[in-house]
Amino acid sequence: MLPGDGIGPEVTAAGTKMLAAVAARSGHNFTFSAQLIGGAAIDATGEPLPQDTIDSCRESDAVILGAVGGPRWSDPNAATRPEQGILALRAALQVFANIRPVQIFPELADASPLKNELLEGVDLVVIRELTGGIYFGEKNRDAHSASDLCIYHDYEVERIVRFAARLAAERSGKLCSVDKANVLESSRLWRDVTVKLMADEFPDIELEHMLVDAAAMHLIRRPADFDVIVTENMFGDILTDEASMLAGSMGMLPSASLGDSGPGLYEPIHGSAPDIAGQGIANPCGMLASIAMLLRHSLKLEEEAHAVEQAIQTVICDGARTADIATGGVTPLNTEQMTDRIVAALPA
Ligand code: IPM
Ligand code: MG
Repeated sequence: MLPGDGIGPEVTAAGTKMLAAVAARSGHNFTFSAQLIGGAAIDATGEPLPQDTIDSCRESDAVILGAVGGPRWSDPNAATRPEQGILALRAALQVFANIRPVQIFPELADASPLKNELLEGVDLVVIRELTGGIYFGEKNRDAHSASDLCIYHDYEVERIVRFAARLAAERSGKLCSVDKANVLESSRLWRDVTVKLMADEFPDIELEHMLVDAAAMHLIRRPADFDVIVTENMFGDILTDEASMLAGSMGMLPSASLGDSGPGLYEPIHGSAPDIAGQGIANPCGMLASIAMLLRHSLKLEEEAHAVEQAIQTVICDGARTADIATGGVTPLNTEQMTDRIVAALPA
């Protein structure tokens, strides 16, 4: 468990409460170890990702991450930043495949800024490449210029596209690869490798290419037409914040980050939300849905994963809301109340 900063510890507590409840119900026994990351780690050790944290993660079956960052550590000239902790962790665990599902509860349509009718039938997954591209390329800075290198190797594209294509095969049989091949050389490599890999290994999957600017537009114009999207690191970062508005709130969405081996990393897609940190009002749903993904992908407990998803759905359908998704004069629940409602809704 890496609670991190801001609302990170609040939602992480919700996550462990859920896992404890799942354990009690199904006779499992989970062992937790809390470790430092982000600003909390910088304060305690001077580093955003201490070696003890990496070691503990490597010894675990799965890693739960709250969130990192906050105004206290956001001096752009600081030697270390909390976000470096997350990036270094993704690299250390080699979790190159970031799964970000965007599922819509029709009951939350009014919480979305989009027109209700656009949201009908939305059920998409973004597969974001997580350990390459501009996030990890060489950085340079002098007095008057700065650069960030966006580099992809063919093997990095192959493994993420293969991952996404396998998911597409289980879903609609369609894959949309998002790039900027009209401008970027790294995107032209991405597209060439994707075309070849799909022809060789997944000839039955329908492959579509979309430029990232067009994808940003179509995501809000006709979101229900998307199913599995695969894209590079930074495009995936940007498009998933945009896509979260389909679900009504960033607070609803989970993510899982997986590699070829080793522990999976599970985190809600929201950030540390300094504006509401410490108030106990954060939406725990993104974390709880991430716990469902953890049960499914790292522990292979499909039934338990499904039970957690059912419980979230039941409580949302019953009208329980945290402040970020409360509409029409509903009195919002706080983090603990919402978590307890969802835990209580777990099927027996
Ligand atoms: C995310 C976040 C991170 C990212 C930050 C905190 C480094 O925005 O997980 O989407 O950019 O990957
Ligand atoms: Mg992001």
